[in-house]
Amino acid sequence: MFGTVRAPGPRLLTWIVLAWSFAAGARHPAASRTKAACSVEGGRADCSHLSLTRVPDDLPENITSLDVSHNKLVQILPDLFKRYKGLVRLDVSYNSMAKLDGGLCRNLPLLQTLNWAHNELFSLKKEDLEYCTKLTWLSMASNRLQPKGEPFTALQNLKFLDVSMNKLTTAKLGSQPQLPSLVNLNLGHNDFTSLNASDFSCLQDSPFLQVVNLSAVALKTLEPGCFKPISGLRTLILDGSRIGSGFIPKLCSELSGTAIDALSLKKINLITLNDKTFTGLQNTNLTVLDLSGNGISTVEDGSFQWLSTLQTLILTDNNIKHLTKGTFQGLKMLKKLQLTKALVNSHKSSLPLIDNFSFQPLSSLESLILQKCAFSEITENTFSGLTSLTELDLSWSSYLQASQKHLTSDTFVSLADAPLRKLNLTGNALTQIDPGSFSALRNLSILLLDHNFIKQALAGGEFEGLDQIQEIHMTNNFQSVDLTASSFVNVPSLRVLTLGKSLKAEALNQDASPFRPLTNLTVLDLSNNNIANFRQNMLEGLVNLKVLKLQHNNLARLWKSANLGGPVLFLKDTRQLVTLSMDYNGLDEIPLEALRGLSMLRELSFSNNNLDNLQYSVFNDLKSLRVLLLEKNLITSVRPEVFSSPLRNLSVLVMARNPFDCTCESILWFVTWLNNTNATNVPGLRDQYICNTPLAYFKRPIMEFDPLSCKDMTPFQALYILSSTAVLMLITGALLARFHGWRIQFYWNILINRTLGFSDAKVEEDRDFEYDAYIIHAEEDAKWVERRMVPLEKQTCQFCLEDRDSVPGLSQLESIVNNMRKSRKILFVVTESLLSDPWCRQFTVHQALHQVIEASRDSVVLVFLQDVHDYKLSRTLFLRRGMLRSSCILEWPPQKERHPCRCFDLHHLQDAERLPAQMVHDETYSRGGRHAPLHWRCTDVQTQRGRVLSSNCGLHYQLQRCAVVQTLGWNDSLCCSLSC
Ligand SMILES: *[C@@H]1O[C@H](CO)[C@@H](O)[C@H](O)[C@H]1NC(C)=O
Ligand SMILES: *[C@@H]1O[C@H](CO)[C@@H](O)[C@H](O)[C@H]1NC(C)=O
Ligand SMILES: *[C@@H]1O[C@H](CO)[C@@H](O)[C@H](O)[C@H]1NC(C)=O
Repeated sequence: MFGTVRAPGPRLLTWIVLAWSFAAGARHPAASRTKAACSVEGGRADCSHLSLTRVPDDLPENITSLDVSHNKLVQILPDLFKRYKGLVRLDVSYNSMAKLDGGLCRNLPLLQTLNWAHNELFSLKKEDLEYCTKLTWLSMASNRLQPKGEPFTALQNLKFLDVSMNKLTTAKLGSQPQLPSLVNLNLGHNDFTSLNASDFSCLQDSPFLQVVNLSAVALKTLEPGCFKPISGLRTLILDGSRIGSGFIPKLCSELSGTAIDALSLKKINLITLNDKTFTGLQNTNLTVLDLSGNGISTVEDGSFQWLSTLQTLILTDNNIKHLTKGTFQGLKMLKKLQLTKALVNSHKSSLPLIDNFSFQPLSSLESLILQKCAFSEITENTFSGLTSLTELDLSWSSYLQASQKHLTSDTFVSLADAPLRKLNLTGNALTQIDPGSFSALRNLSILLLDHNFIKQALAGGEFEGLDQIQEIHMTNNFQSVDLTASSFVNVPSLRVLTLGKSLKAEALNQDASPFRPLTNLTVLDLSNNNIANFRQNMLEGLVNLKVLKLQHNNLARLWKSANLGGPVLFLKDTRQLVTLSMDYNGLDEIPLEALRGLSMLRELSFSNNNLDNLQYSVFNDLKSLRVLLLEKNLITSVRPEVFSSPLRNLSVLVMARNPFDCTCESILWFVTWLNNTNATNVPGLRDQYICNTPLAYFKRPIMEFDPLSCKDMTPFQALYILSSTAVLMLITGALLARFHGWRIQFYWNILINRTLGFSDAKVEEDRDFEYDAYIIHAEEDAKWVERRMVPLEKQTCQFCLEDRDSVPGLSQLESIVNNMRKSRKILFVVTESLLSDPWCRQFTVHQALHQVIEASRDSVVLVFLQDVHDYKLSRTLFLRRGMLRSSCILEWPPQKERHPCRCFDLHHLQDAERLPAQMVHDETYSRGGRHAPLHWRCTDVQTQRGRVLSSNCGLHYQLQRCAVVQTLGWNDSLCCSLSC
């Protein structure tokens, strides 16, 4: 910021204003355009519209241009400009300055352009401009100038001087010759009413003066020879001058013999032209005459006969009633005749008439503009004689008075001799083109038929004879044109065909495409036609097509994958396509193959459709794409798989107004791309690219999406894994410490044994045990053991009881150790008393566990006579129920439902087990036969206590033994346990 605002009032106010405008700017980016200070760019300082009361003195010293227009300057202190010595251009217009100080130019030796318009400058003396010798452009328009003496004499290099709107009462700028370099002088809108012979004498040494503007000056008298001093006068502008018709002949005779080239006489109320009006101009070489806006109603024959050198005649906005053979007589050099709104229909009078051969004198005429005219008719001779005519513009004109507005083969027959190249029939209310209507126009290259009401099926004859035609424009014909396969057979040279808003919806739904003959076509516009159907071959053969416009149709179905017969891939032949517009088509899919091979495509427009999930790589062939328009679709995510290829070389991207999903997955790549691209222009990026989801970003610009929030995801994940591993290891370590090493080894061994299938049976085969089990019990439970356990010994089991079987001669300790080693299992009879028996706890248990660990066997069986809490068990015996197989834990009295057992397939076991025959063959087996008087049913296992053969007793050998011991309630369970 270079300049500071010097707003009126106290400094505080300035600050408040500044702060407010800054805040407003921050809220609305658009509002930031409100200037708060001068802007400096490329040596140009713009301090306009700032309500300044003095010129800023803190701009860079090397500025060359300073604009302080539209402020509140009352004066400028010349000394201030010492700072800006390099100034070439100074604009102080629209202020209130009454004084131009000579010091200004003295301090600005390089000043060339000074704009002092719209100020209050009153007196102007020679000294005021004394040093402005470099000045080439000076405007003092709209002041209250009253020049005194010779104020302009110093302006040796001035080319342009504007002293209009100063209420000057004389055109005289001085008495001595001055302004030798002047080219353009504006004296318009002043109060003088006469030009005296001496008024321009001060300009007699200004050989370059070409343009004098006397607009809106109410001239009444011209002294003879008043223009003589301006020898080089070429352009005289008298627009809006309040001079009467009678004044023109006088003016023209004053211009006689001058170098006048262009005369502008707009809006001077010249109602009638006659053969006297321009007589004075016969002795000039006038080439341009502008008579616009005069309300001319009558042009008498021969009015222009004096203007034999005229090339351009402008008669726009008049009210001419009748053109005759004599109207343009003598205009043999005329090249352009501008008659826009020169012949108009009015309620008061009948339609203007154009007689046959009216234009015949205009043999050089190249351009005839009859825009917005109304005349009675075009006959077979209306345009006869226009042998040079190349352009005829009849747009928005009315010339066919019949109710049926048909063009016929007679309409333009008078142009047969004209080398017509362009015919503009826009807005002619035509309803039909008859065959051969243009057959006289062999040279026509551009035919404009837009904005008519043509309703017909084009059969081909309509364009007959248009051998050179390049462009046919037929847009806006109210969708009533129908096409056939032969519509364009006569115009194979066609390059541009526009049929927007003209075709019937079904016009293209035919097997043979109407466009087939147009192999040279480069531009085809089919927009705004509600077309819903066409065939895949519609564009077949159009190998040169570059521009295809299909916006505002109904093509969504054609590209649906669900379309019957698959999507219609109508672009497969148009490999040269450069521009494709398919906006407003309700598209929700683009088939993967739809844009294949369009490697020349530069501009692609799909805005205002319903596109959302674009298929990956659908745009991948578009190597030349520069402009991509996808605004107002339903696009939520911009993924690299779809867009990285098309966005690579883009210069313009418009994807505004889509419901973007601002998540890392959907938008991160796009936001990153936007942040890094300089080459691509993305208009409205800050305020039209808005997030729709998620809630956190709802209605916020996508550029506020924070890419860092995604980038951090990876480190966070690593951190998460790292920390959770550490926590797990910590827990494991703690568990290790808590469980002591041996427990883990214990579990480990059991696990290994179980998974590898080692069982006690194997172990048993390896080694002979003297006892089946070593029984550990408390003193108090000795009775129970005697009653319940010892009887079992009579069958097969052999138990080792501490008191009974201790080896004589050995110490108690040694005896325990020995016997345990000789026992296959160690059986704990668990009661509260066992847990509180110190001997048992301290030695026996330790020894037992020691052996278990050494042998790496899970050979402990617990028999619970009481319900003992697991916690207590672990505290005293260092065992938990969970450490043992469920079958090695028995409860007394036995609860068989804790032992999931099943019935053996006895048939299968028959031989191997050598079981009693009855047991196998009779479903109801009587034990009375050999062992016990109990009955069981194989199918009824769950209810038969004795028949519970645990699956854990799986080994055949065991089975036999078990069968023997099952007389005693749960003993078979015990047997199973012993084998586990
Ligand atoms: C003006 O001077 C500034 C440094 O004071 C320099 O950056 C700038 O380029 C100069 N501008 C011109 C147009 O010489
Ligand atoms: C008009 O042009 C002709 C030929 O260029 C020239 O001889 C003649 O002097 C010109 N007339 C005027 C009035 O300048
Ligand atoms: C044809 O006329 C219309 C309406 O006046 C105009 O806008 C258009 O530019 C013209 N076309 C040509 C090619 O001159």
